[in-house]
Order: sequence, then structure tokens, then C-alpha cells
Amino acid sequence: MQAFLKGATIQSAKPQKDKAAAGPSGEKKQKALPWVEKYRPKCVDEVAFQEEVVAVLKKSLEGADLPNLLFYGPPGTGKTSTILAAARELFGPVLYRQRVLELNASDERGIQVVRDKVKRFAQLTVAGTRSDGKPCPHFKIIILDEADSMTAPAQAALRRTMEKESRTTRFCLICNYISRIIEPLTSRCSKFRFKPLANQIQRQRLLDICAKEDLKYTSESIDALVRVSEGDLRKAITYLQSAARLNTEKEITEKAITEIAGVVPTKTIDNLLEICFKGTFEKLEVAVKNIVDEGYAATQVLGQLHEAIIERDIGDKQKSAITEKMAVVDKCLTDGADEYLQMLSLCSVMMQQAAENN
Ligand SMILES: Nc1ncnc2c1ncn2[C@@H]1O[C@H](COP(=O)(O)OP(=O)(O)OP(=O)(O)O)[C@@H](O)[C@H]1O
Ligand SMILES: [Mg+2]
Repeated sequence: MQAFLKGATIQSAKPQKDKAAAGPSGEKKQKALPWVEKYRPKCVDEVAFQEEVVAVLKKSLEGADLPNLLFYGPPGTGKTSTILAAARELFGPVLYRQRVLELNASDERGIQVVRDKVKRFAQLTVAGTRSDGKPCPHFKIIILDEADSMTAPAQAALRRTMEKESRTTRFCLICNYISRIIEPLTSRCSKFRFKPLANQIQRQRLLDICAKEDLKYTSESIDALVRVSEGDLRKAITYLQSAARLNTEKEITEKAITEIAGVVPTKTIDNLLEICFKGTFEKLEVAVKNIVDEGYAATQVLGQLHEAIIERDIGDKQKSAITEKMAVVDKCLTDGADEYLQMLSLCSVMMQQAAENN
């Protein structure tokens, strides 16, 4: 372990040095930037795959007015990046500080903050030109990132402020779950759904990064990255960086990716299923225990079992009973239940259903 840690730090120090030396000019602090930050879109045009919102933002960059915005969608699809890039383009680096108020889940956003900070910022009036003479919009932007973690009273307190200050302020609410935003707020905003990134787009971005970082990789490893990240580009980039750090000399392989992502080998899953469908309870207990001992996350096993069951040739009734149990197990795991017991309970239901299938 010690040696591994040591090795990893030495290896990771090397490419950073190279990067700093060979890095593109103009960027000052290159040192320890994670790649997700390094390759965060700098302008709206660089945002991939979210055409509608990019079109609207580009119109407002050309001088059209901007509506209040509500971005929602799964993690790592570009919501935060898009509005930050747009704000930077609208205001330039100098004005940005005065014109943009960014509050996220790490800030206090209870009702008091909405009443004081947000309201006060919204009430400020602003000029329509930049110090460098270029025209800029006559409004400010308040970004409420991770808005689904705001309490309902705090959201309610925004309603009137949003309307009253519409002359000088635009709001941009960002969340993963739109159902957690109260109806009166959603109706005041233009909603944009951020879709999980298509495989081809993800692939392209990963290949770009590989080229820029001068990485050696196999085509299968990129396929694996796209597969395990399920449309979440942040996850894909993070895994890529981990893999690159792990073996700086050799090429990145599919095996390294699946290992980093914690994917359970197909053989293990198949083996578990075989025991469920043909074996005995004693064998099942051992198999489940082995999986837990190997350190695989139960949620990962659950996800892979789910895929396998959907594909498997068994009756619809059995499938529905098993997937229903999976939903229950998933909830229990989220609530912090014991992994071994939950997996065993799921596998016994599969065993039961398999017996009925025969
Ligand atoms: N559409 C996209 N185009 C280009 N890069 C993207 C895109 N989506 C995600 N990325 C990459 O993923 C990283 C994370 O994206 P971002 O922070 O915008 O995600 P998010 O949608 O705000 O996620 P969360 O809901 O978890 O806050 C970015 O730094 C960028 O490198
Ligand atoms: Mg975000």
C-alpha cells in the first residue's frame, strides 16, 4: 500500500511538470488543475450536445434579452459550465464580479439570505456599457446552483423578487431534480433540460483530451469509459485522469478503466446469476459473501444485475417481481442498510422466482 501511494505520487508529479512547461501560453496556473476544470468549456460554443440552450444564450450574447433560466438534468451534463461560460462572455472578466452573484449548495441560502443578499443584489441598477467601451447587457445575473437543495420557503421568497427586479436582474436556477422546485418558480423561467451526453459526443471530447494530454490509449478503453459513465462527462473525464495517473508509461487499457470505475467483472455477475437460477442457498450465501469481501459496491452489483435480468430469458412475471425487489433494495441501500443482507435478500427473491419459472 505504502509503495503504491508513493509510486502514484511520483508518477502524478511528472506529467504535471511537463504540462506546466509545455502548456498553452496565456494560461498561468496550470499546476494541479483537475482535468474537469481544465477542460471546462470557456465559452458557450464549447458546450457540447445542448443545442437549444446554446442557441438561446447565443442570441442573448448578440444583444437579445435573456429570460430567467432554469436548467435541469443529470450530473455532469454541463449545466454549471454553460451559465458560467455565458456570464463570462456577456460581461468579460472585469465586470463579471460586479454583475454575477453565484450561490450554490455550499452557501447558506435560507430565507434570510434570499431576503437580504439576493434581494439587495437584485435591486442594484447597472449601466449598459463595459469599461473597455464594449456594450454589455443592462442586467445582472443571479445564479442559484443546486437550487433543489433550497428550502420551499426560500424558494417562495424568490417569487416576488424575481418579478419585481426583472428590469435589472435575471435569475438562473440549476438543479438535478426539477420536481423539487416549486411550481410558481418553474413557471417564471424558461426551462431547459440537459440531456445525458450522446456516446459519440463523449467519445469525441475524450479523444480531444487524450490528444491534448498526449496519452496513449486503446480504442476499447475509450469505449469502456463512455459505457461506464452513462452520459456523465464529468465522470468520464475523472476516470480518464485517474487511469492516466495510474500508468503514465503504458497505454490506458479497458481493464484499467473497469477497475477504476469499480465495475464488477461480467464473469462474477454471471456466476452469481447461475447460482440463483440453478444452485443452492448455501452456495449463494458464499457467492454473495465473496462479492462483498472483494469490496464491490452493492449499488454497482445491483445495477449490473438489473441489466442482466432485463436481458435474461425468463418470464415477464418473474422479471417484474425481481425488478420490484431491486427497487426496494436500492432504496434500502440509499438509506444505509447492510450491503450483505440486502444483496442476499435480493438474490433469494431471484432464486424463488427462478424456481417458479421452472
Ligand atoms: N455539454 C458539455 N460540453 C462540454 N463539457 C462538458 C459538458 N458537460 C459536462 N462537461 C464536462 O464536465 C464537467 C462538469 O460539468 P458541469 O459542472 O457543468 O456539470 P453539471 O451539469 O453542473 O453537473 P451537476 O449537476 O453535478 O452540478 C465540466 O468541467 C466539463 O469538463
Ligand atoms: Mg453543477
